[in-house]
Amino acid sequence: TTVTYIEANGTEHRVIVPAGVSAMEAGRNNGVPGIGGDCGGQAACASCHVFVDDVWLGRTGKAHPETELGLLALSDDFRESSRLACQIELTDELDGLVLQMPERPC
Ligand code: FES
Repeated sequence: TTVTYIEANGTEHRVIVPAGVSAMEAGRNNGVPGIGGDCGGQAACASCHVFVDDVWLGRTGKAHPETELGLLALSDDFRESSRLACQIELTDELDGLVLQMPERPC
């Protein structure tokens, strides 16, 4: 599965990972700047806050109201397209996914 991460400054990072890992793990394991994973993927820190490109939002779905929204809404940069990358499982269906990082994740 190929994922492109775009930093707030526009720098792009394309990584190729096996299906089944989360978008947080894929970014962190490949050293993508701006993708944190402070809570280990427990939806508890928001250091993995990303914006899902509009084209992809239909496939990833929006932030889960119970497990993601409360935390993301605390961010200064909360948007409709905000997600916790640790809650996005990279399936083959998401091959080509484009994620943008906020200037400050949380
Ligand atoms: Fe902590 Fe995603 S890694 S919320």
